[in-house]
Amino acid sequence: MAELYKRLVEYENSDYYPFHMPGHKRNPESAEGILAGAYGIDLTEIDGFDNLHQAEGILKREQKRAAALYGAEKTYFLVNGSTCGILSAVSAVCGRGGRVLMARNCHKSVYHGAYLQELKITYLYPELWGKCKAAGEVKPESVERALKQLPDVEAVIITSPTYEGVVSDVKKIADIAHKYGKPLIVDEAHGGHFGFQKDYPENSIKLGADLVIHSLHKTLPSMTQTALLHVSGHLVDRGKLERFLRIFQTSSPSYVLMASMESCLDILEREGTERLARLKYIRDRMLEKVRENHFIRIEEKEGTDPCKVIIYAEKGTLAGQDLYQILKEKYHLQMEMAAGRYTLAILSMMDTQEGIERLEKALLEMDQWVKATDISKEKDGWIPPVIDGRNETVMSIFEAYESGQESVELREGCGRIAAEFINLYPPGIPLAAPGERLNEEIIGELLSYERMGIQIQGIERGCIRVIKDAQNAKAMKTAFSEIKNRS
Ligand SMILES: Cc1ncc(COP(=O)(O)O)c(C=O)c1O
Repeated sequence: MAELYKRLVEYENSDYYPFHMPGHKRNPESAEGILAGAYGIDLTEIDGFDNLHQAEGILKREQKRAAALYGAEKTYFLVNGSTCGILSAVSAVCGRGGRVLMARNCHKSVYHGAYLQELKITYLYPELWGKCKAAGEVKPESVERALKQLPDVEAVIITSPTYEGVVSDVKKIADIAHKYGKPLIVDEAHGGHFGFQKDYPENSIKLGADLVIHSLHKTLPSMTQTALLHVSGHLVDRGKLERFLRIFQTSSPSYVLMASMESCLDILEREGTERLARLKYIRDRMLEKVRENHFIRIEEKEGTDPCKVIIYAEKGTLAGQDLYQILKEKYHLQMEMAAGRYTLAILSMMDTQEGIERLEKALLEMDQWVKATDISKEKDGWIPPVIDGRNETVMSIFEAYESGQESVELREGCGRIAAEFINLYPPGIPLAAPGERLNEEIIGELLSYERMGIQIQGIERGCIRVIKDAQNAKAMKTAFSEIKNRS
C-alpha cells in the first residue's frame, strides 16, 4: 500500500482527536456520511505529515520519486491543477513587462500568466493539422526566426501535445531556445503518460525542456486538480519558481489529492508500461475496424498521442456537435469535447476493453446509418478558425484589462480594440485577445459563427467588450509608457 495513504489511514484509525482544521473533524456526520472515506483521510499539515511548501519528509520523497520517473532534476506536486504550475513557470522566467514568445494555441493560464506579469507577447502560430484543421505543431524554424529577430524574448512557451494529441519537435525547439540562452516551457498538461512506453511520444523534460507541466488528472489515474511541475537545467531560478508556487498554490493542500498522486506514481512505476501497451493494442484494433467505414472516421497520424481519438464524418456529413450528441444520447458514450468538425474521446491506461469496444461498435453502426440516409451527400459548411497572425496588437493584455471598457454590438466592433478574449471553446484558441484590434475579417468570421449557432466565448447577447474609446485607449497607453519609463 502507498506510504502516504497508509499513514493517513493509520492516523484515521488512531485515537488522536482533531483540535485543528479541517472543520469536518473527520466526523462521519459531516456531509451526512457521504464521501466518508475521503473525509476520514482529509488531514491538514499536522505533525508527521510534512509540508508541501517546505517538504522535508514524505512529500519530499514522493516528489523525488516523481522527478526520477520523469527524468527531471526537480519535481513539485501541484494541487491546483496545471494552471498553478503554468502561472508559476511563466512568472519565474519572465520579468515584469518583459517579452514572451508563445504559441497562439496556449491554454488560458499562459495568457493569464502574461497578464499578471504585464508581458508583451509575440506569437508562434501552429500549423493546422489533419482533415479537421485542429491546431497542430509549432515549427522549430518559426521559433528560430523569432528569436533571431527579438533579442528581448525572455522565454519560449509551447503546448505539446495539443488537446488533440499533436506533438511539436520539442528537442529541436529546446536546442534552438538554448542556443539563444532562453528557457523553454512546455505545457504538456495532456501528456503525463508520455515517455513510459515506446508507442507514445517521449516526455518533454527528457527532450530538453526547462520547465514541463503535467496534469496527472487528465490522462492518468489521479484525482481532478492533481498535476506536476518539473524543472531541469540552469536557466530557471529554483528560488523564484518556489516563491511563485507559494503564491499560486493553496496554503492548505489536500492530502486526499496528494495520496491520489502517490498512488498514481505507484501504478505508473509498477505497471504503466504494460497498461499503455495494452491500451495501444485495443485502440489499434478499433482503428483497424473503423478504417473500413465510409463516413465515420478516426483521424490518424504517425507520432501523435494514441490516447486521443478524433472522430469526424467524411465530407462534413455530420458536424462535431452532431457526432458528440449522437454518441451521448444514443450510445451513452460521453466524449471529452466537440469542435467544429470533430468530437474527441480521451483514452487512458485505465480504460476497459469493454468501454473501447462500445465506442468501436457505435462508430461502425453510425457509419451504416449515415450511408442509409440522405445526409451521406456532401455538405461541408465548416470553416476552420483562422490562427495566422492577422491581428494587430495595439496594447498588452495588462494594458487592455486596466483600460476602461464598454459593450458594443458585434458588428459595431470593427476597428475597436478587444477588451476580453473572444474564442470558440473548445479549442479555446483566441480569435482575439485583449489589446488586439478587431478588423473586418474577424468580425465577419464571428458573425458567420453566430449565424451557424456556434457558441463563442466573449460574446454575450450579441455584444462584445471593447476598450472604451480610442482617445481613452491612447491616453492609457501613453500613461503606461510614462510610468514604465520612470520606473
Ligand atoms: C493545454 C492545457 N494546459 C493547461 C490546462 C490547465 O490544466 P488544469 O485543469 O490541470 O489546471 C488545460 C486544461 O484543460 C489544458 O488543456
